[in-house]
Amino acid sequence: MPEIIVTTREGETAPLTVKAGISLMEALRDGGYDELLALCGGCCSCATCHVYIDPEFLPLLPAMSSDENELLDSSSYRNETSRLSCQIKLTDKLDGLKAKIAPED
Ligand code: FES
Repeated sequence: MPEIIVTTREGETAPLTVKAGISLMEALRDGGYDELLALCGGCCSCATCHVYIDPEFLPLLPAMSSDENELLDSSSYRNETSRLSCQIKLTDKLDGLKAKIAPED
C-alpha cells in the first residue's frame, strides 16, 4: 500500500495511505479532498483534478498524453510540475509521492 503526501490549497500537508492501482484523483477523492472537483470523473476532459507533483517524482510518472497537455494549457495555474491527477495511476514505485492541489481556475 503506497503512502502519498498531500498538500491542500491552504498549505496543509498530511500523509494518505492509498490503494495501488487506482488513480491519484481517485485516491484524493476517496481521502476526502473535496476541493479537488474532478468534474469529469477521470475522463481527461475537465482539468479540475490539476495537481503539482514534487519534481523528484515527475520522471516516475506515465508520459503525458496530448489531451492532458492541451487541458493543462487551459489552466492559468499551469507550471512545469503540473499534471492531471486522474491520469496518474498509483503504483508501489510511487510510494512517498508528494502532490499539491493546484488553485481552482
Ligand atoms: S477528473 Fe477531469 S480531467 Fe481529471
